[in-house]
Formats: sequence, C-alpha cells, structure tokens
Amino acid sequence: MKILSINYSQSGQLDDILSNFLSSIKNCEIDRIKIEAQQSFAFPWKVDGFYNIMPETVLEEAISLKEIHFKEEKYDLIILGYQPWFLSPSMPTSSLLQLESFKKRVNGTKVMTVIGARNMWLNSQTSVVKHIHDAGGEMIANLALTDRAPNQLSAVSIVHWMMTGKKTKKWGVFPLPGISDEDIKGASFFGAILNESIQKNDFKDLQKQIIEKKGTKINVNILFIENKAKKIFNIWAKLIKKKEAQGKKRSFWISFFRYYLNFALFFVAPILLFLYTLLLRPFLGKKIKRQIKHFLYIGIETD
Ligand SMILES: Cc1cc2nc3c(=O)[nH]c(=O)nc-3n(C[C@H](O)[C@H](O)[C@H](O)COP(=O)(O)O)c2cc1C
Repeated sequence: MKILSINYSQSGQLDDILSNFLSSIKNCEIDRIKIEAQQSFAFPWKVDGFYNIMPETVLEEAISLKEIHFKEEKYDLIILGYQPWFLSPSMPTSSLLQLESFKKRVNGTKVMTVIGARNMWLNSQTSVVKHIHDAGGEMIANLALTDRAPNQLSAVSIVHWMMTGKKTKKWGVFPLPGISDEDIKGASFFGAILNESIQKNDFKDLQKQIIEKKGTKINVNILFIENKAKKIFNIWAKLIKKKEAQGKKRSFWISFFRYYLNFALFFVAPILLFLYTLLLRPFLGKKIKRQIKHFLYIGIETD
C-alpha cells in the first residue's frame, strides 16, 4: 500500500506524534512530507504576530507553500496531520487543502486525519472534512490528540509555550503545555490500530476502535464553546478586514480582538458554562449525544 503522510508543525509536536503513529505501520511505502510556508511564522511568537493572523486564518485565505515533491501521482491512503489555529485549520493546512496538486491526490483516495490541538478542533475538522469531500476524498478516520489540562489552565500554558518557545510549566505551577509526552508516544498505539485495518484492508470499524480507546473524545463544555465561538470569530475576522479596507489601523482592531478573546475565555465562558450546566444541560441530553456522535464521526461513513 502506498501512503502519503503530510503535515505542518511549528514546534515539532505534530511531527513527533506522526513519527510515533507511523512507526506502527508495516509493509507499506510511506511518503512522508513536512510542508512549510513560504512566509515563515516566527516561533516563538510575538504577541502581536500571534493575533494578527486570526482574520486570514479564519477566512481560510491561502498562502504560498514551499514546493511539495510528491513521490507518487496516486496514493492508497493519505494521512493528513494538522493543527487548528483560531478554530480553523492552520494557515499552511488550509493552503494545502486548496492546492490543486494535493486535491488531485485526494480525489478517490482514503484520508485519515491526525490532529494535534490544544482542545478545540471541532470547527476546524468540519472545514477540513468539507475540503476533503469537495476534492473527492473518502474520510476513514480521525485521531484527535489534545492537551489534558482544563480549558483555562491549558490556555495560559499554551500561550506561555507559544510566546517563549519553551514547553515548560509557567511559573513552575501551571500544567505542562501541549500534548503530554505519554500521549505523543501513545500515538504509536493508534498507528497499530490503523495498521491492522491496512493489513486486513478493512477500514469499517477503524474510527469506532479509535473512539473506544479514547484516541478521539469530546468534552461537552468544549462542544458548547465551539458551537458559539466560530460564528463570533467569523464576525471579528470580517470586521477587521473591513476596517483595514476602509483605511483604519489594523493593529488597533487586532488588539481589540485580543482583549475581547481573553475576556470571553476567562470571564464570559465560565459564567455561561455555569448557567448552561445548571439550567439547560439537564434538558439537552439527547441533543448533546447526537452532536457528540456527529463530531466523533464527522464525514466518516457509518452503517
Ligand atoms: C495561532 C494559533 C492558534 C491556535 N488556535 C488553536 C485552536 O483554536 N484550538 C486548539 O485546540 N489549539 C489551537 N492552537 C494550538 C495548536 O493547534 C497546536 O496544538 C500547537 O500550536 C502545537 O502545534 P505544532 O505541532 O504546530 O507546534 C493554536 C496555536 C496557534 C499557534
């Protein structure tokens, strides 16, 4: 079987996840490609630069990638690794998904996604799956690895990591940022599950097994936040682009968004979540279950 494994990674976290994942796959020819953008996204980030890419990321404006040399015209399976940025596929990923040479290879091919996120990947996966389907690909599975720390704590930790480049505990007290070493190593376990499907040439139960082994899971509070937040990000992205087109200072509006986002994350979301858990959630059991199933199997055929 000919496999294409393709991903972008800024810190190397997703590279490590994929290396471990692929190490379990036997008797296949694997073409491993790490994509890079023409413009470099400086790592560690500067605060302004980090928030400045929000509008174009959310609106999925394609950027130029460094030339990609595919070994094959056609693959039997594509493993697409990616990370969400601002609830959307990272800019290099959405650019790849819009690239004709990649879309051509997706057409008629099985695709599995491997996500390395903080904890919010539902909206980005919705978009990625749409690109894959539009290109004629068949989604067979999604492994979504995330940080284990609670939302607000992992947000502080990840900002510390992104702004310093160090995957260390902020002030020695916050949880370690990013996906735990254990889960990064554990990706090989899920690679072995894929390997079994490959050897049997049967991918029917692959996603079910990944879910059963907790490779992909969904937190109800995150589901609640993601249901609301992408619409708001879209409004902000369009507003900032509009203001810029009108000759207003982009940096002012980006800073405004930054304050809004921190306010929403640390003050509004906890209050809304508290009210939601207390007043609404008890009556939404069936709807929540339906939504969880939808996102666990997004774009993947089940019968
Ligand atoms: C600009 C930016 C925005 C991000 N937004 C999200 C997000 O919306 N949801 C999420 O779960 N993680 C988010 N992350 C974390 C990334 O998905 C990823 O876990 C982290 O950047 C490490 O990936 P790497 O392998 O590219 O280094 C964001 C990271 C960056 C740099």
